[in-house]
Amino acid sequence: MSAGDAPAALDVESDLARLDEARARTLAWVLPLDDDAWCAWPDPDFSPIAWHLGHLAFTEASWVLERCLGDARLSAPYATRFAQDGRPKHERADGFDRAELLDYLARVRAAVREAWPRLNAEHELVRGGYLAWFLACHEHQHRETIAIVRARTVAATAPPSLPAAKRAPRTTPRVALDGGRVRIGTEARLAYDNERPAIDVDVAPFAIDTRPVSAGEWLAFVEADGYRREALWTRGGWAWRVRAGVERPSSWSVPSERHPSRDERHRLGESRSREEPFVVATPAGWRAFDPDAPVFGISAHEVDAYARWRGARLPSEAEWELAASLEVLEERAGDRASPAGPLSALAIDRVWEWSADTFLPRPGFVAFPYRGYSEPWFGDHRVMKGGSFVTDEAIATRTFRNFYVPEMRVCFAGLRLAWEASSP
Ligand code: AVJ
Ligand code: FE
Repeated sequence: MSAGDAPAALDVESDLARLDEARARTLAWVLPLDDDAWCAWPDPDFSPIAWHLGHLAFTEASWVLERCLGDARLSAPYATRFAQDGRPKHERADGFDRAELLDYLARVRAAVREAWPRLNAEHELVRGGYLAWFLACHEHQHRETIAIVRARTVAATAPPSLPAAKRAPRTTPRVALDGGRVRIGTEARLAYDNERPAIDVDVAPFAIDTRPVSAGEWLAFVEADGYRREALWTRGGWAWRVRAGVERPSSWSVPSERHPSRDERHRLGESRSREEPFVVATPAGWRAFDPDAPVFGISAHEVDAYARWRGARLPSEAEWELAASLEVLEERAGDRASPAGPLSALAIDRVWEWSADTFLPRPGFVAFPYRGYSEPWFGDHRVMKGGSFVTDEAIATRTFRNFYVPEMRVCFAGLRLAWEASSP
């Protein structure tokens, strides 16, 4: 503390309210799901829902009780089960007991509530509400992963035949921006290490779509054989596509019984002839194909090929942040209330957007609060901007940088097209 600074104060009420709010949202999603759903392991890259819950309690106990107050009783014995580098993902539902898991969450939270007033308000982890912010945001991010695991569990079930939503196709408006010197990132203390520091970058004039690419627009790419035309793909992207056998978004499936029975056709007066060939796996179950909803469940390789097909490209992070700050992105971060309700009530109205940028530190980057949040992933991950229909408002900020390997295709991520200033 420099001379003249007021001593940092601990706002116990608001810190604990932040944690309780995040937990209430998590429980609203997971409590209605049964044990099979909690233990399902539908994707090798992700852990079962039950593990995520244990990991939330473990993380809270580690940072608050162990690191800040030296009490490892609720963390050390659980490290093998619930630490990020604990046991392998396929063993992460072993020994599952719902009551025991909920009890662990409750015991940690009770201990944290009791301990919070004893935290050192001057500690760099605690100062300015950082610790509560960090733990709440950690929970928000894992809650989104829980929704991904749920959607993959749905995707592994037999897809039903559902009538496509009928809407007039709409075109996506595009805005031309002048660019210029743009400040990206943030100096805010309640932000992730990889968002800091704020830096100034030069952005050339460009144009950007005001909406993300829709499912209907992506269907046109599928029907134009976009997945079979090697020339549209990067070399690495094509090799990945062939190896993985990818032919459509991971969220799309062909109904087991695509065509309605004759009786059904009669009953519906043949009105279902415009049925789309796909149905969509969401955390809330199978949904009818909605051509206007943003497409999601696609890798960075797929979005690169699509953009090339359209004669467009992906926006850089700087272009995206500029467009967001000018409020020209119709479904931009922060437009909407956060999904505090149950998982079953979600509408697909917003997706993460793959950017053109590799996840790299900005000049002046300092790892905080631990090396492992960002640093191990620099260089081979790509940045996603915005936020999805399940992303909490605390995460869906203009400067937040989500990051995944380009092959990752099961996130609630799609794309928004950017265009050279000179393109028609
Ligand atoms: C930024 C979403 C890729 O889930 O691996 C959670 C966030 N880091 N716990 C992830 C995270 C530590 C991270 N992502
Ligand atoms: Fe984590």
